Amino acid sequence: MHKDFLDIIDYTPEELLALLDLAVELKKEYQEGGNQPTLKGKVLAMIFQKPSLRTRVSFDMGMRHLGGDALYLSPNEIGLGKRESIADIARVLSGMVHGIMARVFEHQHVLELAKWASIPVINGLSDYSHPCQAMADIMTVYEEFGKIKDVNITYVGDGNNVAVSLMQIAAKLGANFTIANPVDYDMPAQAIETVKPIAAASGSKLTFLRDPHEAVHGAQVIYTDTWTSMGQEEESAKRELVFPPYQVNDQLVAEANPEVIVMHCLPAHRNQEITDEVADGPHSRLFPQAHNRLHAQKAILQTLLGEK
Ligand code: CP
Ligand code: NVA
Repeated sequence: MHKDFLDIIDYTPEELLALLDLAVELKKEYQEGGNQPTLKGKVLAMIFQKPSLRTRVSFDMGMRHLGGDALYLSPNEIGLGKRESIADIARVLSGMVHGIMARVFEHQHVLELAKWASIPVINGLSDYSHPCQAMADIMTVYEEFGKIKDVNITYVGDGNNVAVSLMQIAAKLGANFTIANPVDYDMPAQAIETVKPIAAASGSKLTFLRDPHEAVHGAQVIYTDTWTSMGQEEESAKRELVFPPYQVNDQLVAEANPEVIVMHCLPAHRNQEITDEVADGPHSRLFPQAHNRLHAQKAILQTLLGEK
């Protein structure tokens, strides 16, 4: 296992499945009365350069469930790369806490933290990827279908950080991944190229489309995310003109497999990328998916910070 949890692509399918098994076990244990204090005395520093509800609360509560503690470091507090260099922050924290979770703008910044820290660093979302989200997402798919391999996952919308990590985990674990996104909103070409041989090895079928209707045909999972990610706010008016055909609404859901589930990493911009009817309707798994962040991340924390 790596020291850090930076990207899904860094892990073998076996390692990812071991994390998932542990997540399922920790969820059951928690629901049956509580987790063992495997991280007693351990502290996670949480660096946030962007806002958060789920990531902040699930990492903080996850550490508490495992008997540890978490420190929240707000955007203005440490001035990542401004008040102090990333290399210095990483080396100071390495002598004071047991792990770092960082939500950053530039992906390079989380890589740099990991390079200089002697303790584990977890990517809590960067402009490029959101691997913790993908772990909770695939856990939700597994709970729903009892398997991951051959499940048809269709992502509709912006080729963003959430889409990249979802594609990577689908490719690693043999789920089929289809994306429909507008021209100029493709996932980074390098992310697509690096995942192709991985998908070929696992038997995962990757499909890249423009038409959301074609994309949802046969879908067992429809996934969407905001049209404007954090840090892109000045583009939102432009994006709101381009993305409406990609809205996940009752009509689009009706074109998928009858048992389709709908997922969204949240926060949702209701009645933009997803309608209220769908978000609150029978196909929605939005809230169990959000709750799984807790257990998926506890598996990551216990694996990286726990006794070896
Ligand atoms: N899905 C997710 O990461 O949510 P937050 O931005 O609220 O942490
Ligand atoms: N793509 C979104 C995900 C938020 C959890 C963003 O980066 O803002």
